Amino acid sequence: MALPGQSRTPAPSSVRAELVEAFSRAPSVDSAELVEAAAPLVRGDRPTGIESMDWAALRQAVVDCRACKLCERRRQTVFGVGNERAHWMVVGEAPGEQEDIQGEPFVGKSGQLLDNMLRALGLGRHDAAGDPARQVYIANTLKCRPPGNRNPEPDELAQCEPFLVRQIELVQPKILLAMGRFAVQSLLRSSEPVGRLRGRVHRYHGVPLIVTYHPAYLLRNPEDKARAWDDLCLAAETAGV
Ligand code: URA
Repeated sequence: MALPGQSRTPAPSSVRAELVEAFSRAPSVDSAELVEAAAPLVRGDRPTGIESMDWAALRQAVVDCRACKLCERRRQTVFGVGNERAHWMVVGEAPGEQEDIQGEPFVGKSGQLLDNMLRALGLGRHDAAGDPARQVYIANTLKCRPPGNRNPEPDELAQCEPFLVRQIELVQPKILLAMGRFAVQSLLRSSEPVGRLRGRVHRYHGVPLIVTYHPAYLLRNPEDKARAWDDLCLAAETAGV
């Protein structure tokens, strides 16, 4: 899935700085303005070659990445997991401690909740040979753990984004689930709260995208689990499951 308007030329560092600035302004600018300001920059800011990498090359590029300061304290990178042709793709935020130890996204407490929610829909992450319609590919906006699980910083999101974009291009999911505000910020270029974006179908380069709460938020706010379940049902309906 080629992304429209994508530039093949690496952007100069001034463009990178502008992108970082656009991300850091996110909470205070109108989302439409942000889309206009940041989207072309993101596409132009891809490190050379990522846009044409296959799975093996992309995985290695993530392992080798030293583009931001998160590389200094990571135990390992956390690439993604699941059937590479899965119809479903979940995008979370960043690895936590357990993910940093095990090298797989969503394996801590949030991951257990996510797996339970997915299982309730008949979906799984570990059956590479299974029916792609019943499989999920899971990735994060950041591939390295922020120290102490702090929020991702704008430059980290900007540097890591090309890896996620390429993962989505390779999987070609039929439905995207953006969990939490950083996934939403990355994929929709929106600073609107999750609560205002959920409940309808968005699009990411033509792919239907459903916004929902991050499992870590749901662990702290169990009263919103019913809304998250509604979001998953909307996703299933949209995906034709
Ligand atoms: N939270 C995330 O967003 N991703 C993980 O992989 C783990 C926790």
